[in-house]
Amino acid sequence: MCGIFAYLGPSEKAAEIVLKGLKKLEYRGYDSWGIAAEQENGEIVIEKHVGKISEVVTLGKELTEPAHLAMGHSRWATHGGVTEYNAHPHTTENQDIVVVHNGIFENYLELKGDLIKKGHQFRSETDTEIFAHLIEEEMEEGFEVAFRRACKKVHGRFGVLAMHKGEKTLIAARRGSPLIVGKAKDGALFIASDVPAFLEYTKDIMYLDDNQMVILADKTARFYDMETDQSLEKRLITIDWKEEEAQKGSYAHFMLKEIMEQKESLARAINSDTELILKAAEMIKKAYGTTLVGCGTAGKVAMVGEYLFANVAKKHVNVKFGSEFKSARHFLTDRSLMIAISQSGETADTLEAIEIAKTKGTKILSIVNVETSTMARLSDLVIPLKAGPEKAVASTKATTSQIAILTLLAYAVADRLKEGKQMLIEAEGKLNDMLNPRYEEHIESVADQIKGAKDIMIIGRDMNYPIALESAIKLQEVSYIHAEGFAGGELKHGPIALISEGTPCIIIAPNDEYKQEILSNAMELKARGALLIGVSPDNAEIFDIWIKVPSAGNASPIMDLIPIQILAYKLAVLRQNNPDMPRNLAKSVTVK
Ligand code: F6R
Repeated sequence: MCGIFAYLGPSEKAAEIVLKGLKKLEYRGYDSWGIAAEQENGEIVIEKHVGKISEVVTLGKELTEPAHLAMGHSRWATHGGVTEYNAHPHTTENQDIVVVHNGIFENYLELKGDLIKKGHQFRSETDTEIFAHLIEEEMEEGFEVAFRRACKKVHGRFGVLAMHKGEKTLIAARRGSPLIVGKAKDGALFIASDVPAFLEYTKDIMYLDDNQMVILADKTARFYDMETDQSLEKRLITIDWKEEEAQKGSYAHFMLKEIMEQKESLARAINSDTELILKAAEMIKKAYGTTLVGCGTAGKVAMVGEYLFANVAKKHVNVKFGSEFKSARHFLTDRSLMIAISQSGETADTLEAIEIAKTKGTKILSIVNVETSTMARLSDLVIPLKAGPEKAVASTKATTSQIAILTLLAYAVADRLKEGKQMLIEAEGKLNDMLNPRYEEHIESVADQIKGAKDIMIIGRDMNYPIALESAIKLQEVSYIHAEGFAGGELKHGPIALISEGTPCIIIAPNDEYKQEILSNAMELKARGALLIGVSPDNAEIFDIWIKVPSAGNASPIMDLIPIQILAYKLAVLRQNNPDMPRNLAKSVTVK
């Protein structure tokens, strides 16, 4: 949610560096963008616009003047509509103090009221603008002290960055929203919401943790505890990310590239460190109650996990969506286990659930893609997905890797890890049947037949019920067609009233013990005029359209999801939507 990036260093092209880096953070928000630079004469110049930063070719003349210090922001609107005024950076009236922010200052209305009484004037409807004015109020003892005092006044989760005219200094603080410092060999300093922004300049990074602030000046980054003001030592960590992994290459969109990458990403997940899987399984066996937690797609993966543990390990685990976790706190103790599932490792609702669990002494196991994320660092044990950077907003390869790891864990808990791994390896061997141009063409023709639909229904049973829910998310977010997933048996209890002549209904029908039942449910739909699209290893007479998937036993949730990911992608393209940046969404949801 919102991308922040700043540069301070020897290059005169600070604003251009920030523009380029911000484009790599656009997945975090793409409603509007803005950049501020301090020119050599000390003047601060700002450019901001509504729209996507990826579409910007050149900056305005003022920002191309030499500048060694610049900061920018790509916005996902929370407080205030998508307007130029509400775009960051925000400033004091005289534009001496400039601020960008990710997160929410929850008490901003109260603070704004006080500031207005003191004579401050505001231009935007955002919560962010108050921060510049709070700093201004405290400037008597200088920028550093003023920034620190401003931080103490605001409530909520945030990452905030400010500069003050003429100081050639950047100050940032973090409470909940990620900020990472990069340090290049030439002395350049970077601060960003995520590493890709500066990956082409350096792989040497330092993390800002919660309740810490950092001051970047004179080639040095100084870290402090925000509460005690004590200085902190930070280790420089060299990361092994590859710049090219974060590029689209020859693909039209990241979403398609990431779908196709599942051959490699799944293989990496299946080959997760055996010791690590066994250690995690041991934690699950020992725990007095395990709760799987995730949001959105990761929440649906958690539901798949519940079925896997039941079917494979005969073990009950609980599932909670991050945003609905609070009531579960009453059942946590220091002998409970939470398994947090996430691509980004920065989802605010999941992080909040972890924080609550930690207050109870509950152990945290996370299954997460971004190994450098807050979630990974808050966990007692981390199973990394190793899916590589996932840039498209709609999660695909991270999802199937998460399911693969939960499958390994369920088998490990049942003391059948070898068998589970072998089953996954066999399934992975059949991926080429789906991830090829002929299959893609077939699905494109299906998409063409249903691209004008108003609604799409998806049904599944057992482990494929959450896959129906996840399929609906994929279709909704990129095709913008109303899509809903149901447990096959539930339709006749109400939702079947929505079916009319020609409503496309996707039937997920693997070769499992529920096959006849799901086909009966499909018949019920067909009798009401539905157009049946079967996702199944075998064709059935009732299917109007058949999408063949390999038979894969307990790996069927992975296999059944892949064609629907492709279908969602194809529908998006045919309906002229941008599948990588769907409207109203952002990749990393760092607000509650
Ligand atoms: C949908 C999607 C989201 C995320 C959710 C959690 O395609 O990607 O629903 O799954 O926002 O994000 P992470 O996995 O980063 O915690």
